[in-house]
Amino acid sequence: MLSHSLSHFFFFFLLLPLLSLLFLPHPVLCQCKRPPVIFNFGDSNSDTGGLVAGLGFPVNFPNGRTFFRRSTGRLSDGRLLIDLLCQSLNAGFLSPYLDSLGGPKFTNGANFAVVGSSTLPRYVPFSLNIQIMQFLRFKARSIELVTTAGNMIDDEAFRNALYMIDMGQNDLADSFSKNFSYAQVVKRIPSVLREIQNAVKTLYNEGGRNFWIHNTGPLGCLPQKLSLVQDKDLDSCGCLSAYNSAAKLFNEGLRRLCLEMRSEMKGANIVYVDVYAIKYDLVANSTKYGFSNPLMACCGYGGAPYNYNIKVTCGQPGYQVCDEGSKLVSWDGIHYTEAANTFVASKVLSTAYSTPRTSFDFFCSG
Ligand SMILES: *[C@@H]1O[C@H](CO)[C@@H](O)[C@H](O)[C@H]1NC(C)=O
Ligand SMILES: *[C@@H]1O[C@H](CO)[C@@H](O)[C@H](O)[C@H]1NC(C)=O
Repeated sequence: MLSHSLSHFFFFFLLLPLLSLLFLPHPVLCQCKRPPVIFNFGDSNSDTGGLVAGLGFPVNFPNGRTFFRRSTGRLSDGRLLIDLLCQSLNAGFLSPYLDSLGGPKFTNGANFAVVGSSTLPRYVPFSLNIQIMQFLRFKARSIELVTTAGNMIDDEAFRNALYMIDMGQNDLADSFSKNFSYAQVVKRIPSVLREIQNAVKTLYNEGGRNFWIHNTGPLGCLPQKLSLVQDKDLDSCGCLSAYNSAAKLFNEGLRRLCLEMRSEMKGANIVYVDVYAIKYDLVANSTKYGFSNPLMACCGYGGAPYNYNIKVTCGQPGYQVCDEGSKLVSWDGIHYTEAANTFVASKVLSTAYSTPRTSFDFFCSG
């Protein structure tokens, strides 16, 4: 009897913790006592409610059905990559900068990302340039208020903050949707990269030192693109070759830009994350990772092969949605399901896709 309970003791108090140390993914081990303040710039891939707050565009249920059980303005059934990364640090979700109701908290940072944003043109809401201008306003106002109001981000926290950028997908998508030739799409990439460079430089000149930059995913694997494009030149995964080639060229330019900025900007940590490789692996090997139909939207209209119809998109009258238990990669034809985002987050947190190989909790203090 004694030995029995002893073995129980051994199992629960010694072996289990040991096993979990060995087998559980990184976030569980997170020793992040003080997460960094996070500022995020981007498009729908990281918009946590900015479009709805800023422009009032409805984002209807079933968006949000899996995690929040209501629509939060995120284009997904649940959490986005940015949410999962924040949670890995035990940090709260980022409030959209434009949120005006419910007393949004900005003590942990702010999210400037808005659905549909691109880098160009520069002065159209909410281009990357505009998002940076909003940040400058946010920073100036915070520092002004820090002496009178408590709970504001001070200058030191701005310097130690983590600045995240996830942009470029819409620049590429916009070029293609204007029927640009492939050569014209490619020709526009350097000016898009220059916008990202300008953004990082501005933040650096403001004292920012920590940057986390996502490259762009395989645009040609999105059900929306697959259903809209007439002349399909498909790769071995069934994705649009030209779209993915353009995304890869953009990413190669972004990787080199990060390399260049690392040597130019003294004391800066600039982490480049290959989200493309993670997402393409998920599409190519979906079965292995427990997913099915990687090129079909869960929420949309029209059924296989893509379940996407531009006239009946997710949340619009007449949409159809897959069962909650099904593990599809694409939520609405453009954005990923929470299940897919969770896969992507686990890979991002593994550091295997980061250059330099920097752990996401590197920016925690203590
Ligand atoms: C692009 O080409 C398609 C098919 O040729 C056509 O239906 C569409 O109207 C064109 N779009 C633009 C913006 O010119
Ligand atoms: C799919 O998985 C195989 C085997 O693990 C791997 O070699 C391959 O690189 C993966 N495909 C992609 C596109 O990552």
